[in-house]
Amino acid sequence: MGAADELLAQMRVQGAIPRHVAIIMDGNGRWARERMLPRPVGHRHGMKSVREVVEASIEAGLEVLSLFAFSQENWQRPAGEVSALMSLLEEYIQKETRELHEQGVRVVFLGDLDRLAKPARAAVDRVMALTAPNTKLILNLFISYGSRAEITRAARLLAEDVAAGRMTPAQVDEAALTGRLFTAGCPDPDLLIRTSGEMRISNFLLWQLAYTEIHISPVLWPDFGRGDLYKAILDFQSRERRFGRVSA
Ligand code: FPP
Repeated sequence: MGAADELLAQMRVQGAIPRHVAIIMDGNGRWARERMLPRPVGHRHGMKSVREVVEASIEAGLEVLSLFAFSQENWQRPAGEVSALMSLLEEYIQKETRELHEQGVRVVFLGDLDRLAKPARAAVDRVMALTAPNTKLILNLFISYGSRAEITRAARLLAEDVAAGRMTPAQVDEAALTGRLFTAGCPDPDLLIRTSGEMRISNFLLWQLAYTEIHISPVLWPDFGRGDLYKAILDFQSRERRFGRVSA
């Protein structure tokens, strides 16, 4: 039995498996710099970690895995890096769709998808339609995503509903706003992992993370694997979640 298998076994006896794990994948650039390689090489290695973590999530029995792949702010990176990331996204879809589908993964892309170039947008729409009936794992891939923009959009949709008389101001409550986020219908993350030791939320799921446990891993994303996911879940299981109340 390998080290990761032992962690998995320990996790299964230690406590409940989180339903939803979200990850801010960070450190691809530093990983490349440490090896004197261009940054896109780090992103390419990061794609391998995506594959491994998706498989580990299925094995662990998660319902939802959310990955922050490309933020709205990332559009401001040098054009060469942006286009490398976009090509990687298309390559990921091309190479992985069949296997993801066979594994029963439902792939959902969330964010301002209208900013994607036409071929990338078409690829994204195709995978979402193909895998929509799958139920083994929901893989949320956040692309061109910013949480403040998501909340602002939800507020605008509510304003439109009120202006059109479809609802009254008094009906604007937490559930109404939650239902207009990209993540509508999805349980909030139980655990947020950020890699590479950074301790920031970086405009990711600000509304949805209200009661989420946070695990900071020192590992750079391209080195992050199955065992690191299981370590984070073990850490999560050792916490006492009170949701603002006192212990039982
Ligand atoms: C953060 O590292 C990572 C990103 C901005 C991109 C994440 C993309 C991938 C893991 C690969 C593609 C994924 C899919 C799903 C196709 P950084 O560049 O900010 O690293 P640094 O902080 O060390 O510079």
